[in-house]
Amino acid sequence: MKFFADTAEISEIRELAAEGLLDGVTTNPSLVHKSGRNFLEVVKEIAGVVSGPVSAEVVALDYDGMMREAEVLRKIAGNIAIKVPLTPAGLKACKALTGDGTMVNVTLCFSAAQALLAAKAGATFISPFVGRHDDVGFDGMALIADIRLIYDNYDFPTQILVASVRHPMHVVEAAKIGADVMTAPPKIIHQLFKHPLTDAGIASFLKDWEATGQKIL
Ligand code: E4P
Repeated sequence: MKFFADTAEISEIRELAAEGLLDGVTTNPSLVHKSGRNFLEVVKEIAGVVSGPVSAEVVALDYDGMMREAEVLRKIAGNIAIKVPLTPAGLKACKALTGDGTMVNVTLCFSAAQALLAAKAGATFISPFVGRHDDVGFDGMALIADIRLIYDNYDFPTQILVASVRHPMHVVEAAKIGADVMTAPPKIIHQLFKHPLTDAGIASFLKDWEATGQKIL
């Protein structure tokens, strides 16, 4: 499973990259707003740190506007994935952009039917939002399982990018289902390290080591 960081904070991205935990980055207009940075500048900086896909989202809602914005975004670097919403215009842009060799991440997916449409439009990534789906009383992970089944039935190459990840169990469940990618805030990626028995084991080994009076260096 590939790990993408869902952030526009460059320091967090650098840290994850140094830890070897980063296969790509996703951004959205809300994350850019939170960063307080210029969109084009921050995307360029991120694409310079990460060699994997960096998703940059269009904000136009019509096909021509999306294509004009995508033209600006894809010129930033060779690893930009254009993020388009799951609408008729978004999927039309997806078809045109992927046909031209550009990666496309179709975002705001909340149903298996939508995911099927995105695959037929040639999406590189489909982003089902599991956390937001759970928030309104649906089962985000059941959606991931349904999409996995449908894509496998027809050998669709579209990668399932689990988005709106809220906690480590979302990551584990998505991996068990066989999702290709998950994107999560860096804080959640770091929570994957946590286990109280690991902390307790380190403390007890250190206590016993000190009691030996020995040193390695
Ligand atoms: C990523 O591509 C999505 O924009 C993001 O995961 C949404 O997460 P949120 O529901 O926590 O805003």
